[in-house]
Amino acid sequence: MAESPTVQPEAGTWLESWLRACAELDRLQAGNPLLDAVIDEVDGRRIRVGDRWLHDFASCNYLGLDLDREVIEGIPAYLDRWGTHPGWSRMLGSPVLYEQIEAELRELLGVEDALLLPTLTHIHAAVIPVLADGGTVLLDARAHKTIHDGAVIARARGATVERFAHDDPDDLERLLRQHPRGPRLICTDGINSMTGNPPRLAELAALARAYDAILYVDDGHGFGVVGERSREELCPYGRRGNGVVRHLGERYDNVVLTAGFSKAYSSLLAFIACPSPVKRLLKITAPPYLYSGPSPIASLASSCWGYRSMPAGVTSSGPCSTARPSVCWTISRSWARPP
Ligand SMILES: Cc1ncc(COP(=O)(O)O)c(C=O)c1O
Repeated sequence: MAESPTVQPEAGTWLESWLRACAELDRLQAGNPLLDAVIDEVDGRRIRVGDRWLHDFASCNYLGLDLDREVIEGIPAYLDRWGTHPGWSRMLGSPVLYEQIEAELRELLGVEDALLLPTLTHIHAAVIPVLADGGTVLLDARAHKTIHDGAVIARARGATVERFAHDDPDDLERLLRQHPRGPRLICTDGINSMTGNPPRLAELAALARAYDAILYVDDGHGFGVVGERSREELCPYGRRGNGVVRHLGERYDNVVLTAGFSKAYSSLLAFIACPSPVKRLLKITAPPYLYSGPSPIASLASSCWGYRSMPAGVTSSGPCSTARPSVCWTISRSWARPP
């Protein structure tokens, strides 16, 4: 395809100064085939960008469900029944698949309730301001950018936002003492997307309970990959992929878990696991529940299929067979320790 000529914005305009500030990125893009790439073809874990075939170390399809024949062949039956897309926001109505997936999540995670929304980005932007409620958001300094963005919205609605040093319970406690009033929401990543490391969850959760705060965890990269441990289970990832809280044997009191299906489950869907009264509140306050277009039927279907493949996919051989090798490597390095 012929490339369209690049039109440079006029010097001195706001657009020109933005692009000048981002010139580093242009240089990075020039030397890196996987930055804003146009992918022409997929062949297992190889991808073709133009005339170059690359080994894919960047995909988040950790369990390989995107290319799983059973999942692919299972989807048309859902499309026949529901069409390609539910045309309602969730406030108006949701296909029963949502109820089914939320019920599966309750059982899988061992939580009181769960609410499905399209993405984690939606969830952080909508839920953090509600839970902070004009109190204080205490952010791990290296929490994912989408959490920081949720905190910015909370600040616009009257909350105070503070950062604590990455994974540092002492620094967090200092801030909890400094901000004794109002709701306190402590935000952190679960399994870290860059390192594969878990947070110091036991200490963070203990502080949340001691100071009557809520620990809000984004386990986008742990959900589906790490799960509960048992003496009989030799796999270092644990069983059932039910996330970092269960993996570390923690309880859910004062802990709110969020995660997405867009990584291990290869589907456009995400959830917040929370007590039922909080779910009721979110159903009347969270814009993505009230107004957003929902996940496509194919994603709801592949989430349902993901549950079915979970026991075989995770417990027998670990999630590495077709998944993102770099992340599997970092996760297995950090997690290969006895129960
Ligand atoms: C830790 C973390 N949280 C949130 C997101 C955004 O997820 P979503 O695509 O569900 O908005 C990402 C995406 O990479 C992520 O790594």
